[in-house]
Amino acid sequence: MKIGIIGMGHVGSTLAYTLCLQGLAAELVLIDTNAAKVQAEYLELSDTLQNLNQDVALVKNDYAALADAALVVFCAGDITVLATATDRLAELRVTSKMVEAVAPKLKASGFSGIVISVTNPCDVIALHLANLTGFDKRKVIGSGTLIDTNRLKNRAEREDVLVIGEHGESQVALNVSPEIEKLATGTGWEIYAAKHHTAFGIASSVARIIRVLKTDTGELLPVSTYDEAEGCYYATLTELTLENGVVRRVLPLLNKLEADRLQQSIQTIKRNGQAF
Ligand SMILES: NC(=O)c1ccc[n+]([C@@H]2O[C@H](COP(=O)([O-])OP(=O)(O)OC[C@H]3O[C@@H](n4cnc5c(N)ncnc54)[C@H](O)[C@@H]3O)[C@@H](O)[C@H]2O)c1
Repeated sequence: MKIGIIGMGHVGSTLAYTLCLQGLAAELVLIDTNAAKVQAEYLELSDTLQNLNQDVALVKNDYAALADAALVVFCAGDITVLATATDRLAELRVTSKMVEAVAPKLKASGFSGIVISVTNPCDVIALHLANLTGFDKRKVIGSGTLIDTNRLKNRAEREDVLVIGEHGESQVALNVSPEIEKLATGTGWEIYAAKHHTAFGIASSVARIIRVLKTDTGELLPVSTYDEAEGCYYATLTELTLENGVVRRVLPLLNKLEADRLQQSIQTIKRNGQAF
């Protein structure tokens, strides 16, 4: 499978490495405005591939090469913006401009596959990217709350938990106490405080989404998808296929409090989306 990665920072480079290790890509198109960074990652990945049993063709900074790609992951950004912020929305001013720079090139490349948008604020950026490319919104998804659900599983030490809504402060954790929910929501910030970025959790989450798309297992994942009625993206359980993107969105049964909180989360995403 040919996969493009736009933004070869912490997230993009860790994703490329993960895809090589897991044998999920036959070809990787690596794109970044920082040509030296792309070259460095190209060299590191080439060194990695010497240790692996599979060949992965690596292409650098070539939008035209995306024409026949099955997937593009959008993870451009500037993580240093978060150094003085307490909310992923602080990135919006910067990352919305990056979408505006990338979308016309992605569209002009002739790409017609699935887009997985990771850049924060994840749900708002997914909609911006879908609108500016004009791609079918079923084929543009956000990485959503798979990562938050994984964090919640670790904090709750249980598997039967789920996070829906915004990948952000208004997210809604199901089946846990408020204390555990708070711990889980703080995980990203705890990692960021020491590492000044997060990468393994999100890269492996995106790799898992790609594996589900590739193998067509029908597994439901909490990713961010477009709700026609609300006119915005937010995370709920979703069935995906490589051919059609979103084929089914499943909202779990919610009690009144959870339903109210989900509605507040949706309103938060919509409010932030009004910035452009
Ligand atoms: N959704 C999630 O769960 C999740 C998790 C972690 C990080 N993120 C987000 O992912 C984004 C990237 O994080 P990071 O740590 O890799 O950031 P980073 O600053 O390390 O890297 C971003 C890269 O994007 C590149 N870039 C900037 N503008 C570009 C453009 N127009 N075209 C192509 N490349 C461009 C930069 O040169 C840089 O190499 C951020 O928005 C971050 O908040 C999301």
